[in-house]
Amino acid sequence: MDKIEITGGIPLEGKVMISGAKNAALPLLAASILVQGPVDYTNIPNLMDIKSIKLLLEDLGASIESNGSKVRINAASIYKAEAEYDLVRKMRASILVLGPLVARFGHAKVSLPGGCAIGARPVDLHLKGLEALGATISIEHGYIEATTDGRLKGNEFYFDIPTVTGTENLMMAATLATGTTVLRNCAREPEITALADALNQMGADITGAGTAAIRINGVGESLGQTQSILNSANSRNSSTESNPSLKPATINVIPDRIEAGTFMVAAAATKGDVLIQGAEPEHMGGIISKLRQSGASVDITEEGIRVKGGEKIKSTDIKTLPYPGFPTDMQAQFMVLMSIAEGNSVVHETIFENRFIHVNELQRMGADISISGGNYAMVRGVKSLSGAQVMASDLRASASLVIAGLVAKGVTTISRVYHIDRGYESIEKKFSNLGAQIKRC
Ligand code: UD1
Repeated sequence: MDKIEITGGIPLEGKVMISGAKNAALPLLAASILVQGPVDYTNIPNLMDIKSIKLLLEDLGASIESNGSKVRINAASIYKAEAEYDLVRKMRASILVLGPLVARFGHAKVSLPGGCAIGARPVDLHLKGLEALGATISIEHGYIEATTDGRLKGNEFYFDIPTVTGTENLMMAATLATGTTVLRNCAREPEITALADALNQMGADITGAGTAAIRINGVGESLGQTQSILNSANSRNSSTESNPSLKPATINVIPDRIEAGTFMVAAAATKGDVLIQGAEPEHMGGIISKLRQSGASVDITEEGIRVKGGEKIKSTDIKTLPYPGFPTDMQAQFMVLMSIAEGNSVVHETIFENRFIHVNELQRMGADISISGGNYAMVRGVKSLSGAQVMASDLRASASLVIAGLVAKGVTTISRVYHIDRGYESIEKKFSNLGAQIKRC
């Protein structure tokens, strides 16, 4: 199994180009199910999670052509509406096919995603939302089965918690419903706005994405009824009418604000000077403010976001919140910066209940962190970290270990790096271009 080895202590310097956002690309690729024809994508990152969703779409019967960061998906050939356990268990975001499948085919069967390292992460709100749109939901033998007697029906639905993939799933489902759907207390992440923009390009009628209330006027009717070869969840042969669909489009994926944030924190932590190219500063308010509070200089220039580490790293409290608050996906990386700050910082994780797994590994590198009440961490800044053998436990935790390795004295070896390949494209190449001593072994 691959490991990453880093010899730390080198300030990062140079330019790095940010890839397309994983969390934007996943729902955008799932949205291809809503279209009976080709959808062309550009700026798709080369990541394990992207491979996982492509495999899943292919298994449903979609045809996929990939050429570097360009991907064409034609979902006209989908012949089954069943996402199997072996494909879904690799990536929880596979639940994103549920809404589009039930919208287009009137029924879907999707394996219930299991728990994951960072918490239980239920999908109850996705299911309640689909029920509000008229689907009947049952859970049997580990599978969610959603059925309708034709098309979904527009309705109002309130999310008890703003959920990112839940908002995306319901937004996609409602595009082909009859009538109008209003979703309230929606998540407001830029990836949701990007999905709404893409769906509108495909002929959907969505307003309000990026705010707490999203209004979706079902549009399928105006595009006309189409024939599908899909009849039942597992039939290849019988022919029946499917619901209407959206129309082909070309979609460009927005830049990855979490990848950009990870490089920004790494620049600050190593007291380097890095130009982050291709990122969207508008999406990164929380990260930029907190980096500035910690003493780094962050300049938004024509060429990109330039981050220069300050002489001193100042202790800074963070509290993770739904967008536009500080992202939970940057908590672990920021904690590394705080672990070498002057003074004490409090990190409050409010989104996931078990997202401090990286703390044990950072302690092995000399960080002084204690967890209290499950979702608070007190980080007492130390002068330096020291290289150690550590283990990645989840995607963002592994990014934090890479940053820790880059600042630590000596050699850090990170095992289980498959977690990092789920969400960071060419991470060792991008860091070594900035002068880091990092290699895969
Ligand atoms: C998405 C992101 C992930 C990020 C997270 C929070 C993708 C593919 N993944 O995950 O990188 O860390 O947002 O920004 O975009 N919840 C429920 N019931 C539900 C759904 C969610 O209780 O039906 C809870 C979750 O347990 C969690 C909170 O809502 O406490 C937010 O989770 P959610 O926004 O759904 O995260 P994901 O969409 O899974």
